[in-house]
Amino acid sequence: MSTATLGIIGAGMVGVGVARRAVDAGLDVVLGNSRGPGTLTDLVAELGGRARAATPAEVARAADLVVAAVPLAAHERLPRAELAGKTVIDPMNYAPKPDWSVPELDRDELTSSELVQRHLDGAPVVKALHCIGPKQLLNLFRPAGAPDRTALPLSGDDLAAKDEVAELLDVLGFDAVDLGTLAESWRSEPNTPLYAIPYVGQPPAGLTGPDFVAWIQNAPGTPLSAARVKDLAAAAVRGPAGFRL
Ligand SMILES: NC(=O)c1ccc[n+]([C@@H]2O[C@H](COP(=O)([O-])OP(=O)(O)OC[C@H]3O[C@@H](n4cnc5c(N)ncnc54)[C@H](OP(=O)(O)O)[C@@H]3O)[C@@H](O)[C@H]2O)c1
Repeated sequence: MSTATLGIIGAGMVGVGVARRAVDAGLDVVLGNSRGPGTLTDLVAELGGRARAATPAEVARAADLVVAAVPLAAHERLPRAELAGKTVIDPMNYAPKPDWSVPELDRDELTSSELVQRHLDGAPVVKALHCIGPKQLLNLFRPAGAPDRTALPLSGDDLAAKDEVAELLDVLGFDAVDLGTLAESWRSEPNTPLYAIPYVGQPPAGLTGPDFVAWIQNAPGTPLSAARVKDLAAAAVRGPAGFRL
């Protein structure tokens, strides 16, 4: 296994979910957030001996592969110099707000992962782990070859980095489907058929706003095959970017 130590920058819902799955799968994890390692003491104790906390720069230096589990609005604060040469998984989804948006994304000139790659110009970025929530990640993992193993999309411009991420997903209990380049990663962004819903099933009619999000976040999860991932990606039509409540 080439990823022995997984770095996770961002210790919120996604970072913690990935950390739990990774530790259970036998990986060492090193986690960081914006407030400092001291704020992660309880989490690290709960995760056990395979986990430790560090600053984001230390996470980048220590890890074989890094998950950047921060809000997209914080991507320019990722430690670019320390991440140079490391494969970075980008699970970030664009969610414009009244006080923050990115005109190039609003105009569909870039995908959000191209934006992240522009900042991390020395590190191959692979879009992955963005279509599935932490609860489903912790429920749907299966051994390789299981008939109900779930597949996750990935996109990137560097083939070796994509292989590395596919290998990590396999260790975590998932198949990978390569959707192509970062420019093509809009096929799995919010507002496409592949985003979130296929991994949870159809939400009850009438749910909107925070209730809709809460239902998705708490759903146990629905297995999704690689063939279905390919079909849903092929059916995508590019519309306005960004998840809006
Ligand atoms: N939640 C989901 O179901 C889901 C699913 C798929 C993808 N995503 C995407 O995954 C990303 C993380 O989502 P989330 O729900 O985990 O968010 P979250 O719960 O709000 O956690 C965000 C984490 O990022 C950290 N952070 C913020 N700025 C940072 C910086 N400059 N350096 C280091 N750490 C920083 C925060 O640390 P502090 O608290 O110390 O600031 C916090 O630990 C988002 O881009 C989201 O779009 C979310």
